[in-house]
Amino acid sequence: MKTNEEQYFHDIFDLLKKYEYVHSLRNIDFFLQDQWKKLPNDWLLFLNDLTRDELNQLPRNGHSHPKCPETLKSFLIECGRLSVLIDEPLSMQPLPNTICKSVKQKKRHELNHLTLFIVSLCDQLNCNRVVDIGCGLGHLLRAIGNQRPLKLVGIDSDAACCSKASTSFDVHSGSEFRSKTITANATKQQLDEMLLGNESDRTAIVSLHGCGELQPTILKWFAEADRVKAPLLIAVACCYHKMSSGKDGTSINFPLSSCCSTALDTFRVSPSSLRLACQETAIRWESQSHEDHDKHER
Ligand SMILES: C[S@@+](CC[C@H](N)C(=O)[O-])C[C@H]1O[C@@H](n2cnc3c(N)ncnc32)[C@H](O)[C@@H]1O
Repeated sequence: MKTNEEQYFHDIFDLLKKYEYVHSLRNIDFFLQDQWKKLPNDWLLFLNDLTRDELNQLPRNGHSHPKCPETLKSFLIECGRLSVLIDEPLSMQPLPNTICKSVKQKKRHELNHLTLFIVSLCDQLNCNRVVDIGCGLGHLLRAIGNQRPLKLVGIDSDAACCSKASTSFDVHSGSEFRSKTITANATKQQLDEMLLGNESDRTAIVSLHGCGELQPTILKWFAEADRVKAPLLIAVACCYHKMSSGKDGTSINFPLSSCCSTALDTFRVSPSSLRLACQETAIRWESQSHEDHDKHER
């Protein structure tokens, strides 16, 4: 008898195996290697006849199109059922320009939501300190600092980013930026020293778009860390395809969950599939304009 999680992972990998031709090659190879010919003929005929607006609706509502082939319907319904993304637009007051002057709309949206989520959890868990790993130019810390008077520490392997980030903080604020690289083979003690503050600090660890190996390294450390000193981790991963792989091409750190690993069995998730995992969500696809589609077709 499988647990809900085991069943969930099995269902996901069954879907990924069955439709491997959709995700396992680089996007451009879909056409260059004639991969598209593997799609069922009735899917191709149906897709070929869709208007741009119908194409936009395909991921979320394509199954209710009167001409949608039954097999495509069940594929779309199964994708929707297994998706864990909260795919609804959220509305919120935009961040003030003074916090993130030259930040694009998408990033502002992200910073806005993440900041409020982080500070509410810091309040609940009595965190007095936030460490942002892979802080880049320090936008997230600046937005957090605008909400609460917390101790703020930014860590990034790029020294230029750290130095630029530190210029935008008040020198008396107590915030600091350290140019350090968190390597996959760092010991628990090294990471404790790097990330945890003094005896009385309760540190929230955050990481927004930390690429490749960075996220599994943080997650593994956090699983072992002292929960009194580090009660909170909020990590938004990206660029999964940059995780290192072993000699046989399989990812060393994917999956971290043993339940997921058992369900994965011998199936290998390709770098292209991992790359696709951090692309557009259905809701963003839905809002593609005709010009956006034209641009992609070029
Ligand atoms: C995609 S950027 C995200 C920057 C910032 N968090 C944001 O959302 O704007 C990833 C950042 O992580 C840093 N980084 C990547 N690997 C790292 C590592 N192993 N240790 C420290 N910083 C790292 C990079 O230098 C880069 O600034």
